[in-house]
Formats: sequence, structure tokens, C-alpha cells
Amino acid sequence: MLSETDVSARGLADLPEVQSDSLLQLIALCDADTRPEKIDVGVGVFRDGEGRTPILQVIKEAERILNATQETKAYLGGYGDKRFAELLRPILLGEHAADHRIIGLQTPGGCGALRLGFELIATANPRARVLVGTPTWPNHPPIINSVGLGMVDYPYYERGQGSIRFDDMMAALANAEPGDVALLHGCCHNPTGADLDAEQWRQVTEAIVERRLIPFVDIAYQGFGRGLEEDAAGLRGLLAACDEVIVAQSCDKNFSVYRDRVGSLFVKTGSREATERAMAHVLQRAREMWSMPPDHGAAAVRIVLDTPELRDRWLGELAAMRDRINSVRQRIAAADARLAFIGRQFGMFSMLPLSKEQVLKLRESHAIYMADSGRFNIVGMSDGQIGRFIAAVVEAMDA
Ligand code: LMR
Repeated sequence: MLSETDVSARGLADLPEVQSDSLLQLIALCDADTRPEKIDVGVGVFRDGEGRTPILQVIKEAERILNATQETKAYLGGYGDKRFAELLRPILLGEHAADHRIIGLQTPGGCGALRLGFELIATANPRARVLVGTPTWPNHPPIINSVGLGMVDYPYYERGQGSIRFDDMMAALANAEPGDVALLHGCCHNPTGADLDAEQWRQVTEAIVERRLIPFVDIAYQGFGRGLEEDAAGLRGLLAACDEVIVAQSCDKNFSVYRDRVGSLFVKTGSREATERAMAHVLQRAREMWSMPPDHGAAAVRIVLDTPELRDRWLGELAAMRDRINSVRQRIAAADARLAFIGRQFGMFSMLPLSKEQVLKLRESHAIYMADSGRFNIVGMSDGQIGRFIAAVVEAMDA
């Protein structure tokens, strides 16, 4: 136990080491590798056949319009760009877009939306526990811990099989207490690529209703899996069945505006009045953290969605990204029976059946960078690198 004097004598130099997020470490490691043949399948950024992450043409066009027409950079307020959130409603909420019990606001990326959503839960019910299927996105647990909520994890994924441990998931939901929160990946599960099918979503939704849990859906890759509508089907089923739902959404990937940090948080409660009250808390929490969200990316997305011609072209550019993801998936799946499961999964990620040692060896010997867990970005590599990637992975599995 430190005495008062010890505590007051502590300075910034006494801070302990931080265990930094493994994905951020990976970016730095890969950047520092000077081997020209290196393959970066670490962090989740879409790359095209040439290995580039181009700015979408529709975003370029929207930025030109923004540049020519924006007359002020005066504050917009805590909600950010309200029209942006309004235009997202039909895309995300589908048939629930007109439900006035659902209110959304702009956030700094999906990460900001997650933090804000968990802040809201912690404000309403600090004793709520968050059920998290593992493995999950490495930043989920720190965000949940940062608001002081307890976490209950359960095994979500059977690594060798590439399949979901659905019985374990259902058992975890059945054991939860009313008011607990079920964190769910809306689509394109990160890191496994293993999405619930329609029947599994139905059963999960039923269990959530029965146990009176609050579903919290993280949907960061809508349109990268089966299609824009299909990828939101699970979320929409929850909205139909539950009075209270929280949705953390991201446009960073499906509009390819990663560094602009474009996201939103949608909250549904049983009445318009209760949602408005909840949003007052959300705004207060946002004010304490970032005051107001950054404008530029959301404004560009808003222009795309508000301009029918650009909106149509965006759907085309999104489909092209999805098609590349799915065709690279099929190519890898066809290469070896042990990789066949990758062809049945969705989104930017899957986990290779490799140990941490094998992953590190790939890094050392082949300059292939993926997360220690074996998670790799399906479209991290160029077309020209796929053959070498597959050969190296098969060699590692054979070793
Ligand atoms: C990822 O999982 O690679 C992305 O969501 C990027 C991030 O912020 O971790």
C-alpha cells in the first residue's frame, strides 16, 4: 500500500508499461520491415488487385462538391451531421427506418460509437455485464473495461473447424441476467469471418427476448459480406423483437474513409421519450470525450448518399470491393482442403489454423504480417501476392 507521500511523489515517469493493442503493434512492425516482397495481411484495410487502398471515386467527387459548396466550418453540435445520420437510417435499419423510438447520431468511427454505447449502458446500469463471444475484435474488451462494466466471455468459435460454437453461445445467453448486454457482430465477424446464419440469428434473438437482455450490435463491415441488405438482416430481426437495442455502426470500411473516422450510434428504447432521455446522456458523455465529432468524412458520405447518381455509383464501388473479398476467399479456399472453411465465411477476416509460432515464422521467413492469432486480412494482399501467400501458409501448415 502506498503512503500519501509516495502517491504524491509519483510523476509521469513512474507510469507502468502499456500493453499496446496488438493490431497497432503489427502496423508498426510491418511498416518497419524493409523487405520489398512483404505481405501485409494485418490490419483491416481493403486493398485492390494492385495492393492499393484507393479513395473511392464517389468520395473524391463528394469532396470536390464539399470543397466548392461548404461555406462555413462553424460547429454543428453534438449530433454532428444530422442529415448524415438520417440518410444512414434506411441503409442500416431497413424497414425500421421510420421507427421514432430509434435515434442516431454521428460518432468518430465505429470505435467512438462503441465507447459511447457502453458509456450509456454503464450510466443506466453499472451492474450490467457484457457477454462477449471470443475471440473478438481486440479493442472490444478494453472499451468495455474502460467504462467499468463487467465482461462475461464465452467461446464463439471452433478454430480447427472454422465453425461457430453455437451451443456455447446459446448456453451463455441462457445463463445471463436480465439487463445484461449481448455484444454481437452484425456481419463479417472480426476476427473469424464466421457469421450467424438466419436460423441462428432467430434463435439468438429469441434467447435475448426471453432473458430480457440488451443486444448491442457492432456493424462495421455492412456490404462486405453477402450484400448491404443481407448483412443487416440479423440486426433488423433484433429491432423487430426487442424494445432496447444499441447499434454501433461504421462507414470507415464501406466508404473507404478509414482515417476520417466516420461512424454512428443508434439507440432504440420502448418509447420516443425514453430514447430522447437516453440521447441526452449520450450527448453528455460525448461532450466529455470529444465534444463534437469531426465533420469532413461524414459530410462527404452525406453528399454521396444525398446525390442519387453518386449513391448508385457507391453501390457499384461497394459491390466491387465485396466481389474482390469473395473471389480471394474462394481462391484461398480452393487451394487446400484445410482452408476450405474460408470459402464459407464472410468479410475481410478469417483465422488460419496456425499457432503463434507458425505466424511468427511466416513473419520472419516470408515477410508475411498477420495477427498472432492467425487472423489475416483476406484482401490485404495484391493479386500478384496471393500465390506466394497460399504457398507459404500451406508450407507452414505442413511443417
Ligand atoms: C481491424 O480489426 O483490423 C480494424 O478494425 C482496424 C482496427 O481499428 O483495429
